[in-house]
Amino acid sequence: MNDSAPTSPQSSALDMQKATQFALKVLGDVTACQMGTLTLVADRLGLFPALAHAGAVTVEEFAKRAGIHPRYAREWLSAMACHGYVAYDDATKKFHLPPEHALALADPDSPLYLTSLFAMPTAYWANVDRLTDAFRHGGGVPQECYGEGFWCGFERFTRTAFRNNLAQDWIPALPEVHARLQAGGSVADVGCGNGQALIFLAQAFPNAVCVGFDNYAPAIESANANARAAGIPPERLRYEVCDVVNGLPGSYDFITCFDVVHDMPRPRPALQTIRQALKPGGTYFVLEFNFSSELQENIHHPFGIGAFGYSASVNYCMTQALAAGGEGTGTCMGEKKMREFAQDAGFTHCRRLDFPNNPFNLFYELRA
Ligand SMILES: C[S@@+](CC[C@H](N)C(=O)[O-])C[C@H]1O[C@@H](n2cnc3c(N)ncnc32)[C@H](O)[C@@H]1O
Repeated sequence: MNDSAPTSPQSSALDMQKATQFALKVLGDVTACQMGTLTLVADRLGLFPALAHAGAVTVEEFAKRAGIHPRYAREWLSAMACHGYVAYDDATKKFHLPPEHALALADPDSPLYLTSLFAMPTAYWANVDRLTDAFRHGGGVPQECYGEGFWCGFERFTRTAFRNNLAQDWIPALPEVHARLQAGGSVADVGCGNGQALIFLAQAFPNAVCVGFDNYAPAIESANANARAAGIPPERLRYEVCDVVNGLPGSYDFITCFDVVHDMPRPRPALQTIRQALKPGGTYFVLEFNFSSELQENIHHPFGIGAFGYSASVNYCMTQALAAGGEGTGTCMGEKKMREFAQDAGFTHCRRLDFPNNPFNLFYELRA
């Protein structure tokens, strides 16, 4: 215990109702952390899909259907019912997953699917000693300290937008790009991670030639395995290890960065390289999280996700960039910073695009 910690003030000016309300909020946050492990176990054992397919079930029926121990089934269902994830009917003693909740919890193809994200905090907790050290002495936590579970969770999270929106909404909003891809244009996805975006792009545009680049070798290994599993031959889609700051091999009609710019340790030279790798009339397309560059606007974020952004930043985005000796831009980069990077890199055109199906993201079209 810290001896210098203040004792509870007993001042009459203290609003105890407000203090209690706040304490309950903190307890709610602790509850959310505890529910995280229950959701991660559910993800590993397929409990939400099992419940979604079961309809209304008793504890025993659910335990049998999900193949889990009945005592754990009872406690898990009770926790989920109290937490508002699962509905409970006391008259029949049955539980069910409302179809609206199944979109976020049970259907990995749904645009609202979020259960995948619960795999990521495991790495945050595992890195907490390294993170504490970075708070004290600077530096950060290197990318390789996050592990496969973290990256699989992220892949499953971003995959849903690629599956549901990339070819359906984003490319059609760029008519020139659409035409070039149909005619067999060239595409580079910089910071491709496990490669999901280009798999959906290559499937939608069979004439296009696609290359993914990432500086993280395990991601490239997973991406190439994913492409082979999808049955797309290497002449049409391949992935290569490459730090974009050191130059991009080749030139392209269309270059993409999905959730990458704010993670780049050195975004300014990286964007310069990307501009130079565009073919004449080529387009650079950027997806970022929908945050402002201004703290005050994130405090009053319309979706209330400001703390999600800054905490993701401290847990991973800013911290891994600082570990690499970089700028540490952070997750809440926002439009102002994006325009600054674009201008510094010599882009003459930077247009923001909005897609109603993707309110959690900001999109930019850039040209040299
Ligand atoms: C948040 S992940 C996004 C992965 C993927 N685009 C997606 O949406 O699933 C950011 C990726 O950018 C890569 N990255 C960051 N800086 C890079 C650089 N300078 N060159 C190549 N890749 C980079 C990281 O290795 C990481 O895989």
